[in-house]
Amino acid sequence: MIVTIDGVAASGKSSVSSGVAQALGVPYVSSGLLYRAVTLLGLNAGAELADASALLPLLPGVRLEPLASGNRVWNADHDLTADLHSTRVDGGVSTVAALPEIREWVDAQLRALPAPLVAEGRDMGTNVFPHAPHKFYLTASPRVRAERRAKERPEDIPAIEAALTERDRQDTTQSAPAPDARVIDTGPLTLQGVIDTILADLR
Ligand code: C5P
Repeated sequence: MIVTIDGVAASGKSSVSSGVAQALGVPYVSSGLLYRAVTLLGLNAGAELADASALLPLLPGVRLEPLASGNRVWNADHDLTADLHSTRVDGGVSTVAALPEIREWVDAQLRALPAPLVAEGRDMGTNVFPHAPHKFYLTASPRVRAERRAKERPEDIPAIEAALTERDRQDTTQSAPAPDARVIDTGPLTLQGVIDTILADLR
């Protein structure tokens, strides 16, 4: 069984997916972390982020560890996880995610994982696991998402809201709900409320 949980930036996908996966006793995988890892390595190497040929040599060392408690991403034996959610990576990741060669590599990493699992991202239900029997798509207004994200970033709420709105715009191509996804507005719900809504649907 595969459950896909897609949604816009900072809609709570990772926390929700982790909660759902733990309740089901299965691993979850956060696909955005792979795009973030390639972005971080590209920035650190001084690569042009829009140039796939500069990024492709960086990919072989990257490995995602889908722990139930929180995914980790490694580059060889170096744990990148703590550095993947910076404003710097936020600003470059959509450029990297627009590259077909990088998307192909991420998709292959995800499809190699054994089911059952919960897969989280933008195109899990539409592209990576189109035959998944259970699909969800999380939304919330830009302001609500910026207020949540402000707890994890140094910038103020209007700056975060502007950056999220820009990232949504850049991600439009790969970020649409699958026709058979249940769309959940997480704005009025607590984290546990979203998790319970999904679990009730699965039952
Ligand atoms: O989910 P998260 O916000 O960490 O994703 C970071 C970025 O990775 C997104 O803004 C998007 O550009 C890209 N992404 C994607 N497809 C996915 C997951 C993430 O394009 N399935």
